[in-house]
Amino acid sequence: MTEKTFTLAQLAQYDGQDGHQPYFAYEGTVYDASGIPNWQPNQNHGLLTGKDITEEFNRSPHGAEMFEKMHLPVVGKLVEE
Ligand code: HEM
Repeated sequence: MTEKTFTLAQLAQYDGQDGHQPYFAYEGTVYDASGIPNWQPNQNHGLLTGKDITEEFNRSPHGAEMFEKMHLPVVGKLVEE
């Protein structure tokens, strides 16, 4: 099975705006946040979509266990341009 890959430029299109899916990357993995209320465009986490948030996440109030808790669907992986 081939995994879907995203460059940063491609990921930027998944910003949750205008019908685009809200995806984000963390430590090389791309996640789909569309099932979570506070990840919608008008919510605070909506600002995090379409980006690699690894560094920001490590400065956030959450620990890595947030990913286990949320069970976000994985859509692929982040690759170099
Ligand atoms: C740059 C990364 C992140 C930052 C700076 C951040 C920041 C915050 C802050 C300040 C809150 C509390 C304020 C509020 O409830 O609106 C919050 C809540 C929350 N965040 Fe994040 N967050 C980040 C990434 C994530 C990620 C990756 C996930 C999921 C995997 C996530 C899931 C949640 C959830 C579910 C809540 C609600 C908390 C609760 O009710 O227990 N966040 N986040």
